[in-house]
Amino acid sequence: MHQTHGTKADGTPITDEMVDAMADEAERGYDAVRKVSIIGIGAGDPEQVTVQAVKALNAVDVFFVVTKGTEQQELVDLRTAVLERYVEQPTYRVVEVRDPERSRGETAAEQRAAVAAWRDARAEQYAALIRDELGEDGHGAFLAWGDPTLYESTLTIVTELAARAHVAFDYEVVPGISAVSALAARHRIPLNRVGGAVQVTTGRRLAGGLTADADDIVVMLDPSCTFREVAGEGVDIYWGAYLGTADETLVSGPVTEVADEIERVRASEKERKGWIFDTYLLRRK
Ligand SMILES: C[S@@+](CC[C@H](N)C(=O)[O-])C[C@H]1O[C@@H](n2cnc3c(N)ncnc32)[C@H](O)[C@@H]1O
Repeated sequence: MHQTHGTKADGTPITDEMVDAMADEAERGYDAVRKVSIIGIGAGDPEQVTVQAVKALNAVDVFFVVTKGTEQQELVDLRTAVLERYVEQPTYRVVEVRDPERSRGETAAEQRAAVAAWRDARAEQYAALIRDELGEDGHGAFLAWGDPTLYESTLTIVTELAARAHVAFDYEVVPGISAVSALAARHRIPLNRVGGAVQVTTGRRLAGGLTADADDIVVMLDPSCTFREVAGEGVDIYWGAYLGTADETLVSGPVTEVADEIERVRASEKERKGWIFDTYLLRRK
C-alpha cells in the first residue's frame, strides 16, 4: 500500500526512500560507537605498508603510540614517518603513552605475577585511552610493528577490553608484513620445504631444543643467540637484523660456520644503535 509522508518545506513530496534514509541515519547516530583499529605497518620498510593499511591510517582521528624507553625512540620515529608519508589530511592527533614498568621476579611464580600485573596495568592504560581520548564515535588506532597477529600483545589486550565492556567500542585488525615474511624475502627462500611444517617460536622456547615436528624453525625475540646452544652440524641459519631499514644486515650459512660472525655483528650493532631487532630461520638440511 502506498504511504504518504507529507511534503518538505519547499513543497517536494517526502518519498519512501527519503524516510528509509532518515531511519538509517537515526540508527547510525544511535549506534555511534568508538572504533579502534590495530594496523600492521610492516617490519621497517615504509614501502611494505599495504594499501589497506594506508586506507585505514587515513580514517583515524587519534593514534596511540606506546613507547618503551629512549632506546626505542627510533622505532617511534619510524611510526611517525609512516604517518607523515601516508596520511593525506594530517588532522589526526598522536597520543604517546609510556609502557608500564615491568618488574622482574626471581622465581617462576614471581615472574608470572609480575607479567600479570604488567598486563593489567596495560589494559587499564588502553581502556583510559579509548575512553578519554576518543569522542563517542571517534576512531583510534594502534600501529603494530610487522603484523598485529604475531608476538604482539596489543590485539590480545584490546580483545579483552572489548569483552569487559566497561568502555564500548568496536575494533578491526589490518594485517601487515611481518619480520618473518621480510626475512624470507630478503634471503630469497621459502619458509617451508615441500609439504613441510614451519614453526615460529621465541628464543626462550628454543632453548628447550629443536622440535622434532618441524624442519624449519623461525625464531623471534631472542636476545641470547640461542641457536648456538641448540643447532650444530646439519643445520643452516638465515639471519636478518633491522630488516627493511637502512641498517639491514643479513648473514646465512651452516650454523657451525657463521655463528661467531652473527654473534659478533649482533653485539656490535646493538652497541652502536642501543637496540636490535633480529629474526632467523633454522633449517635442517
Ligand atoms: C614484539 S615482536 C613483534 C613482531 C611483529 N609483530 C612482526 O610481525 O614482525 C619483536 C620481534 O620481531 C622481530 N622483528 C621485528 N622487526 C624486525 C626487523 N625489522 N628485523 C628483524 N627482526 C624483526 C624480532 O625478532 C623482534 O625481537
